[in-house]
Amino acid sequence: MLIDSFNRTIDYIRVSVTSRCNFRCLYCMPNTPFEWEPHENILSYEEMFEFLRLAIDEGVKKIRLTGGEPLLRKDLDVFVKMLHDYKPELDLALTTNGYYLKEYAKKLKKAGLKRVNVSLDSLKPEVAAKIAQKDVLNKVIEGILEAKKEGLLVKLNTVVMKGINDGEILDLLEWAKKHGMTIRFIEFMENERAYPGIKRVSSDEILKEISKKYNFKELPKDNSASKYFELEDGYVFGIIEPHSEDFCKSCNRIRLTAEGYLIPCLFFTESYNIKEAIRKGDIKKAAEILREVVKNKPEKNDWQEEEVSSRAFWETGG
Ligand code: GTP
Ligand code: 5AD
Ligand code: SF4
Repeated sequence: MLIDSFNRTIDYIRVSVTSRCNFRCLYCMPNTPFEWEPHENILSYEEMFEFLRLAIDEGVKKIRLTGGEPLLRKDLDVFVKMLHDYKPELDLALTTNGYYLKEYAKKLKKAGLKRVNVSLDSLKPEVAAKIAQKDVLNKVIEGILEAKKEGLLVKLNTVVMKGINDGEILDLLEWAKKHGMTIRFIEFMENERAYPGIKRVSSDEILKEISKKYNFKELPKDNSASKYFELEDGYVFGIIEPHSEDFCKSCNRIRLTAEGYLIPCLFFTESYNIKEAIRKGDIKKAAEILREVVKNKPEKNDWQEEEVSSRAFWETGG
């Protein structure tokens, strides 16, 4: 078991298989502000698998493939199958912008993927295009519906932004409800790459909007990033509020980037790299680095304490 210094069990790894993306979401990477890594710096699927096998043996139960946009990396289903075959009971999930999901859904399901979380920030084509800086809505919706049809468990993620999509909270909730999917509204996380004009909508404001039409009660919190709420008819939606005081208390995750960095927290400047150890076949060293990262996982992110815009942000959405 991997247990950190604050007694949190780490059993979830988010794996970014590429930092590239075909969208330029305003809250994430509006300007392609960094150089893409040359291919030889990126871990191969075999190399990632070597490390993840070790992590699974140490107690990791949930692996989520993210990006950038993970479906931009070739043969992602082959990687999914490698992980699934190693441990079929793994909670194997994907976070995607949905653009290529229609083509991929069947293959991913067949390979052993269980769940997929898709970004859906607006139901209006022109607003979706403004946010992603590309005409995306049709393909995203087709992807979402195809994934559901193939039997994947689908959740929707909506980053709520003032004056952009905050008027659509109820419409998005109702669309998700109609299609039998959970939607989570996410507070925008300020970061240095995001478009400077983006303003966060707080979880209180989001809940207030929903309460105009629905009564709901909060469900007991588990260790997911989301709080969940239940409407009177049983429909469940979520809110992800990284700015809240207790957000990190139940954090159960670390991250692996495509370049081999192992990151203990989304906002953390210290980094560790497993690439050399894995490429040398030194599994013992890789295991040591894994334990070190878990040991050094900080108690909480530092939203409340510092200018977040200057913080390292180790995730490109996806
Ligand atoms: P489930 O397994 O379905 O609960 O998914 P998830 O919420 O773990 O993953 P997803 O990729 O859908 O992420 C949803 C949102 O939570 C995104 O905005 C992520 O950036 C954010 N998120 C996930 N993990 C962390 C974390 O450790 N810290 C912070 N601050 N945000 C996180
Ligand atoms: N703040 C909040 N959520 C973000 N995402 C990407 N960047 C940010 C940010 N700055 C979300 C995307 C995607 C999920 C993985 O992360 O909407 O659904
Ligand atoms: Fe791409 Fe996701 Fe970032 Fe949007 S949020 S630019 S879809 S990685």
